[in-house]
Amino acid sequence: MLTGRSESARSSDRARPDVAVVGAGPIGLAIAWRCAARGLRVVVHDPASGSGASAVAAGMLSPVAEAYFGERQLTKLLLASAARWPAFAAELTAATGTGIGYRTEGTLMVGLTGDDLAEARRLWAYQQGLGLPVTPLRPSELRDREPALAPRVRGGALAPTDHQVDPRMLVPALRTAAQRAGAVLVPQAVAHLSDVDASVTVVAAGCGAAALTGLPVRPVKGQILRLRAPDGVAPGFRHVIRGYADGEPVYLVPRADGEVVLGATVEERADTTVTAGAVQRLLRAGVDLLPELAEYDLVEAVAGLRPGTPDNAPILGPLPGRGDVLAATGHHRHGIVLTPITADLITDLVLGGVPDPLLAPFGPERFVGTGSTDPAPAATGGPEPTMEGDRWS
Ligand code: GLY
Repeated sequence: MLTGRSESARSSDRARPDVAVVGAGPIGLAIAWRCAARGLRVVVHDPASGSGASAVAAGMLSPVAEAYFGERQLTKLLLASAARWPAFAAELTAATGTGIGYRTEGTLMVGLTGDDLAEARRLWAYQQGLGLPVTPLRPSELRDREPALAPRVRGGALAPTDHQVDPRMLVPALRTAAQRAGAVLVPQAVAHLSDVDASVTVVAAGCGAAALTGLPVRPVKGQILRLRAPDGVAPGFRHVIRGYADGEPVYLVPRADGEVVLGATVEERADTTVTAGAVQRLLRAGVDLLPELAEYDLVEAVAGLRPGTPDNAPILGPLPGRGDVLAATGHHRHGIVLTPITADLITDLVLGGVPDPLLAPFGPERFVGTGSTDPAPAATGGPEPTMEGDRWS
């Protein structure tokens, strides 16, 4: 790290960057922005900034709706990062003069059938047990909030503090902010860490981190659809809607410009093929919850690869035996919501600060000696049963 390195020493060594960030998605760019704003010389390597998971991501900032059995430590990190989002969004907008589609109407969690609702209530009870703001709503209250919901929807709950941002606006804004702060973008791939010459290297390369570091990061395929309300009008609903429809987990994210993101599959696959079956299931579930979607234009069907880890929690911190290489990867379903806290805490590490206690469960060392693929419970934090294949969205 850069402990003890004076400002003058940094600036006198003009040829060598203080920090090389590998990966110019939201995580890498936000780290580059923060580091550059702290006076460090920063280069960011990526042949195609923003072409990874963020290009497909819906942008839900959902620490409450995503609080899941057996993932207490992860939930704590998600909540801490979500709490930073209002200031992060305001600062980014002020730094760039561009919007990022940050919206705060909240999230409705719904169940279509009695079985769906029973499943959902079990999770809401768990979330309420953690002290999270989840307010069950009667069907009439649900429809008062979102009249476009199908009459068949049996019930729901409000998570008012779960918000959204548009990742396709966020990434260009972060790129601009990082560059204005002095970071230099190098549009080239990094094949080996030895190709990078900097005092500290931050690996924020999503699934690419596996080849660069040997860390157990695996691709988790997600297929997603984008629809558009006809005639350029805004969608007929304002909240993010997450739910089960006949057992199919689904989310719907309305944008101000008329777009609706409908997602997503969670598949242990490494291809980005869009399949007819997935499109059919997503559309059926989406239209069952919000019938007006049947009239929308289907404008995009795309698949991306989430960077998953054996315990589905991020990997944040120095590689064992390589104090000059920091991992900031493995964010799986949570890359967008975790962007602010990842950027802040990794920047503190780069500057040689005392590691924030929040980082403790997420270090790369938790996988040493596990054979890489065994789930390690430390980061998710509990002996409770998990239901990964059946999770809420
Ligand atoms: N964060 C939503 C997803 O991964 O599908």
